[in-house]
Order: sequence, then C-alpha cells, then structure tokens
Amino acid sequence: MNADAPWDRFDTRAYIEQHYMRVSDVDAEIISVVRDHFADHFSRNPDRPARGIDVGAGANLYPALAMLPWCEQITLLDRSWNNYCYLEEQRHAYDHEWDQFWAILSRHQAYAAVRGERKERFRDIVRVEQNDLFNLIDRQRHWSMGTMFFVAESLSTSHEQFQHGVECFLRALAPGAPFAAAFMEHSQGYEVGGQRFPACDVSESQVYDCMAGLAGKLETHHLGRPDEVRAGYTGMIVACGFRDLGIS
Ligand SMILES: C[S@@+](CC[C@H](N)C(=O)[O-])C[C@H]1O[C@@H](n2cnc3c(N)ncnc32)[C@H](O)[C@@H]1O
Repeated sequence: MNADAPWDRFDTRAYIEQHYMRVSDVDAEIISVVRDHFADHFSRNPDRPARGIDVGAGANLYPALAMLPWCEQITLLDRSWNNYCYLEEQRHAYDHEWDQFWAILSRHQAYAAVRGERKERFRDIVRVEQNDLFNLIDRQRHWSMGTMFFVAESLSTSHEQFQHGVECFLRALAPGAPFAAAFMEHSQGYEVGGQRFPACDVSESQVYDCMAGLAGKLETHHLGRPDEVRAGYTGMIVACGFRDLGIS
C-alpha cells in the first residue's frame, strides 16, 4: 500500500539522472500533447488567471512549466520529504536542464510570450506543499487547472488506491478545469537509486474508465514503446480533459 513505501527516502537526484537530464522522445511527445491541450483551452478562455496544482510533482518540473503562462499560483504537492526539498530549492532558481523542456513548450506562442520572465514567474507563483494526495478529498473544487504525472499508478500496487488517487485529483479541480495526467501502462514497479517502489498495473482503457465519470471531455493517448525509459512497463498513457461541469 502507499503508506508502506519509503517515500521520504526517494532518491531525487538518482530519479532526475535517470529521467530528466535530457528530453526523451516520449517526453517530447507528452509535452507537445499537453501544451496544445492547455494552449487551445486558454486561447478560447483567456480572461481569468488560473490556480494550478501538480499532484505528486516529485522531481519533474515540466508539468508545472506547462501551466505557467496562465497561472497566478501553482501548488506543487508531494508526500516525499526529499522531493519537497528539491522542489523548494528549484522554486528559487531552477536548474538549466529544465530549459530543454521549456524549449518544446515555447514552440507555442503562449509560452514564447513569457519566455523572458519564466524563471521569475516560477519563483513568484509556485508554492511547494508536503502533503498526501489522498488528503485532497477535503479540498474539492479548489484548483482551476491541474496535472498529475506518473503518480496514481506509481504509488502502490492497489487498484483501489489508483482509483482513489485519480478521484482525489479530479475532485480537487473546479468544474470545467482543464487537466492533464500521465500514467505508465502495465507498470511492474520501479527502482530509484537502488530502492524499489510499487506500481499498479493499468491499461489505457482502465485509465479512461477511471477518469471518464468525473471528466466532461476526455481523450487518452498511447505514447512511447515498452521499456523505453526503464524496464517493466509497456508504454505511457496521457489523459487530457476537463473536469465535468456537473456536480458528480
Ligand atoms: C514516479 S514518481 C512521479 C514524479 C513526477 N510527477 C514525474 O512526473 O516524474 C511518483 C511521485 O508520487 C509521490 N507520491 C507517492 N505517494 C504520494 C501520495 N500519497 N501523495 C502525494 N504524492 C505521492 C512520490 O513522492 C513521487 O514523487
């Protein structure tokens, strides 16, 4: 179960070395899909500044960067102390490797327009919070856009916790809020710095079914190849949509 894994000993630096020193082909594809989803929504709804959240942000800044042009505040939430410390440090001046990810985002004008102020904006609007995703059930409809990358399926082997994690994320978003979430498909668990972390084996249709009830509009994309960035999974799933307008 989620509480049994050693999250506070998550080796942040090893995780970055493994995944984010360079932009992998599949990350480039994910970023393009998410960028276009958000940019398209805000080109039609330009008025109000958004309040964003990245759930289980860990050691990945690109979901937050993908929300940057439209947010007046972004919460980076993670339960791991090591990841909290990393995020808090990055908030003040993020490392240059994240500019490779920004370069893909800035192929769209909405991002290019804030290029010169991106680091200051990131420092000023980001708030880092050490907290448990399952506690978000008490903060329903709080955020107006959200991301959750490789978290709900990568926090335990339990399908119930996977579903509950997705539900907590979606319920934390206001009606109509745009969101993007990514999942490892058929993950068998993963190693970070020699330490094993659990995963729940999910398919694209399970991801879709789990989100569809709380989403007004939803699209899933299957990206990447088996074992492309590490051993023990078959691909990546990106879900882009909007929190439904009803009161489900
Ligand atoms: C596989 S990592 C994904 C990190 C990052 N989002 C990414 O895209 O690479 C899973 C993350 O979920 C966090 N996590 C695990 N259980 C959590 C929980 N109950 N609440 C919040 N974060 C959690 C871990 O600390 C870790 O940062």
